[in-house]
Amino acid sequence: MITRRRFARGAPLAAALGLWTESALAQRALVSGTPPPGTVWLNANENPDGPGAAAVEAMGKALNEAGRYHFQEFRGFYAAVARSAGVEASELLVGAGSSEVICAAVHAFTGPGRPLIHADPTFELPIQLARALGRSVAAVPLTSSWAADVKRMAAEAEKAGGGLLYLCNPNNPTSSITPRVEMDWLVANLPRNSVLLVDEAYLDFSGDPRLASVLPHVKAGREVVLTRTFSKIYGMAGLRVGFACARPELIARMQPYPAGVISWVSSRAVLAALGDAKLIPSRKARYGRIRAGLCSWLAEHGFRFLEPHANFVMIDVERDVRGVIPAMISRGVAPGRPFPPLNQMLRVSIGTEAEMERFKRVFLEVMRP
Ligand SMILES: Cc1ncc(COP(=O)(O)O)c(C=O)c1O
Repeated sequence: MITRRRFARGAPLAAALGLWTESALAQRALVSGTPPPGTVWLNANENPDGPGAAAVEAMGKALNEAGRYHFQEFRGFYAAVARSAGVEASELLVGAGSSEVICAAVHAFTGPGRPLIHADPTFELPIQLARALGRSVAAVPLTSSWAADVKRMAAEAEKAGGGLLYLCNPNNPTSSITPRVEMDWLVANLPRNSVLLVDEAYLDFSGDPRLASVLPHVKAGREVVLTRTFSKIYGMAGLRVGFACARPELIARMQPYPAGVISWVSSRAVLAALGDAKLIPSRKARYGRIRAGLCSWLAEHGFRFLEPHANFVMIDVERDVRGVIPAMISRGVAPGRPFPPLNQMLRVSIGTEAEMERFKRVFLEVMRP
């Protein structure tokens, strides 16, 4: 429940924190210069296929009835999402994308003397919010195999007397994974007053046996929050639906922070997508195939890259990437922005086969003129 005191505390803060709002993130995703018409967008790890056919059809039907709130349907919606995630409705918090529930976790589990401890580099949203809230932030570099350094993250939390530990698995921007054994170790060795936030936005893109969801730890009632999204493999980024799973006490602490219920039209799309049993396996196979094709091509041409597990690949361009990105954009292919300190790496999202052909042509033009 939103108490008046919390509202009074939160409202001016939210107004002051323009930097972590969705619109600010959208601004940041914009590329500099004017991309030519027909530019191929490989910059934001979006899904080139968009929502599945069942979701599009469901939304078409829903539009005529979107004049009403349909609040009475949300209980069934939460139950369906919880079922699909393998949790109870009391272990679920739905938000406007996983961004909203990640922010809720930062609000709930950081504080004065309770820092955010994060793998570095990683998805920046929780870091920016923690900084804007005046929390201390500790960055723990990835290991030489591009995994989260779980021992050092635990040591930082121990030193601080507790905190929120954030990591993505697979990680953005490196597309690398932290193996299950490491995650299990971290859960078993979480210092007191600590909560582990695991962002699984890209988990469905990997079939690697070393990678596993932390869901069993959530079900075991550990101090673990996992987040998932319908933005990536489901192709519904613009519909803004994501969720967190955690034991009910942790969910209750996050509950006050999301702004409201999600769009009912989006909820209909999600229900339809969840009802399409073939959607995720077929997409996983398709993007895995396109990603493998890109990797073989890179290797054949002598380019190095990090072994990818998500719908993007980090390529070593062996020069300042800030020169490569604008050159590609001016030729109609928009890759990801720079991700310091990885200043010689180019992040490229997986698009359709035709888009990746265009990427290869332009990449060669820029790299080997
Ligand atoms: C690792 C990671 N987590 C979360 C998000 C947020 O996605 P959304 O709010 O659309 O669920 C993104 C978006 O790119 C991401 O890369």
